[in-house]
Amino acid sequence: MENKRSSFTGKLGFVLAAAGSAVGLGNIWRFPYLAAKYGGGMFLLTYIVLAVTFGFTLMVAEISLGRKTQLSAISAFSKLDKRFSFLGYLASIVPVIILPYYSVIGGWVTKYLYVFASGGMQDAVKDDYFTNFISTPAEPVGWFLIFMALTAIIVLLGVEKGVEKVSKVMMPVLVVLTLFVAIYAMFMPGAMEGVKYYLTPDFSKFSATTVLAAMGQVFYSMSVMMAIMIAYGSFLDDSSNIARDGIIIAFSDLAVSLLSGIVMFTTMYGTGLQDMLATKSGPGLAFGVYPTAIVNLSKSGVFNAIFAFVFYFCLCTLAIDSAFSLVEGISTAFSDKFGTDKKKTTITLCVIAGVISLVYTTGAGLAVLDIVDNWCNSFTLILIGVLETIAIGWFFKTSKVVKEINRNSKKFKMPRVWFDIAVKFVAPVSLTVLFVWNIIDLFKNKGGIYGAADGYNLTSNILAGWLVFALCLVRGFVIPRFKGKNKQTETEETWED
Ligand code: PHE
Repeated sequence: MENKRSSFTGKLGFVLAAAGSAVGLGNIWRFPYLAAKYGGGMFLLTYIVLAVTFGFTLMVAEISLGRKTQLSAISAFSKLDKRFSFLGYLASIVPVIILPYYSVIGGWVTKYLYVFASGGMQDAVKDDYFTNFISTPAEPVGWFLIFMALTAIIVLLGVEKGVEKVSKVMMPVLVVLTLFVAIYAMFMPGAMEGVKYYLTPDFSKFSATTVLAAMGQVFYSMSVMMAIMIAYGSFLDDSSNIARDGIIIAFSDLAVSLLSGIVMFTTMYGTGLQDMLATKSGPGLAFGVYPTAIVNLSKSGVFNAIFAFVFYFCLCTLAIDSAFSLVEGISTAFSDKFGTDKKKTTITLCVIAGVISLVYTTGAGLAVLDIVDNWCNSFTLILIGVLETIAIGWFFKTSKVVKEINRNSKKFKMPRVWFDIAVKFVAPVSLTVLFVWNIIDLFKNKGGIYGAADGYNLTSNILAGWLVFALCLVRGFVIPRFKGKNKQTETEETWED
């Protein structure tokens, strides 16, 4: 069955949808806790440098692969060079792994939204509120199902009716609201200390771990290395300006993360909880910080409650946007390659994600989430980064990729020298070093970012981490060999002008 290719309405549509994928829970939940864990200013600096250089460059490269081939990851890579079809498979398994746990966290946000809507704002700032909530057996499952159902509806509505509309309104509102909370939080007594800690890099805290954590977060936050930007690029037509759109997407994503870091640090210092930054940096921390900041916004309880509701409403819709892109990335890749019906693929996917995510709602759920999230970002995305930059840098002509990126851009053009140096040399080498270093470190420090202070035992790591990693490798390297002929006729095609 033929699948009609989705497309964006107008130029803004793509930017909003791609920025909607990038900006999400990762900015509000993952970025601040990494910044807290890896020493504030030093992490911030490393993150900004990596986002502006690697993140941006690789993102526009992926979008241009999609636009050029009009195909999503699996088919795009095999079209450009058959030997790299495994890379498309490898990248498209990542959303399958992220989706279940992302949706569980999305369920947490939906629960907070409900609490604020029903006037329970004060409850949410109590100690242990979050911990009590996630340790009840049934509640998180219920909220997860609601979140997943909302995502499925938006996916079925399609890009134009669903995701574009949502992003158009919510994206600017969220940016403004986060700015508002950040500015207000700065006025809490003692908050400026927090800002100082956040903005001043302490170079003694610089380590390979910081770089690794920042790099993983850049990929995760910009939704690159996981088939998504390639799929979104494939919906674009020839007139789109990738270089310019890429800048807008990258900077909105960066802005929301930076502001959310400010909220984190000002609130922790302003409420005298700064010691917790060093000792505890789990999702509970990020989840507790925003309600605390909002409760302190003004003297009017009603204003605060309305603000909280609007803020969580935006957050929830942007989380749906990101979850949408995870589903869209996989289902487009699948239906492009195997000719499956996109609706059916989407529903199957949501059901599979639903079953997997039950793991995260068990007693060991948070630990499993920690290991899987860490593995996905520190191992899988970094490995894909190595392979993808080698493919683009050495096998698809960089001159053509750069030309595609710059095709309709007048003001900003990606400099060819920069692209060559970054994609051919710096990225593959540095990502390989990080990858190897991470494996060594895992045996020393036992992995995990927040769940347990001293990492996890080898069995847990093997079960949750290595197993997931093995799954990716099997998906990437082994399965394609047995697939034999597939629907798509793969002409060995190089990148034509
Ligand atoms: N970039 C999204 C965020 O930061 C998460 C995401 C990851 C979305 C991977 C799609 C793919 O929340």
